[in-house]
Amino acid sequence: MKTIYESFSEDDTASVGAALAAKCRGGEVIKLSGGLGAGKTAFVKGFVKNAAENSADVVSSPTFSIMNIYSGTKFPIYHFDTYRVKNSVEFEYSVGLDYFEGNGVCLVEWAEIIEDVLPCTAISVFIENDPSVGGDYRKITVTFPD
Ligand SMILES: Nc1ncnc2c1ncn2[C@@H]1O[C@H](COP(=O)(O)OP(=O)(O)O)[C@@H](O)[C@H]1O
Ligand SMILES: [Mg+2]
Repeated sequence: MKTIYESFSEDDTASVGAALAAKCRGGEVIKLSGGLGAGKTAFVKGFVKNAAENSADVVSSPTFSIMNIYSGTKFPIYHFDTYRVKNSVEFEYSVGLDYFEGNGVCLVEWAEIIEDVLPCTAISVFIENDPSVGGDYRKITVTFPD
């Protein structure tokens, strides 16, 4: 099932993330793609705000740490950024794949880099710019596999 959202601000994008968090039960893997500055981290911020035990948790890009962990009210949240990971082999070697089979929710920025080791049940979030509409405009496509 595919749903398209239109976002006109960072807050709008965060709200789409928060709405997805409300639907999660634990065990989901969420793939985020869309290029640098698309709004992947903004989406995760909204997700964490909805689902975290401490909604004041500050979400930052885990680019330099590969993963940040937030404790959620319903499930732990694992936030990955694989921008600096070469490929899935390197990811599997350094981080491992256990998180994708656990009870937490995994949100993976730059998911396309490690696509081949992500479960086929993963939910995909694709964020696109469209400068012809406006600099802050984003089209967000959320796809749940059939
Ligand atoms: N509609 C929008 N949704 C999300 N971010 C937006 C939007 N409009 C402008 N921005 C800006 O774009 C940037 C997105 O940054 P970030 O979420 O870190 O992107 P990414 O993680 O995809 O690299 C922020 O500076 C944010 O303020
Ligand atoms: Mg980011």
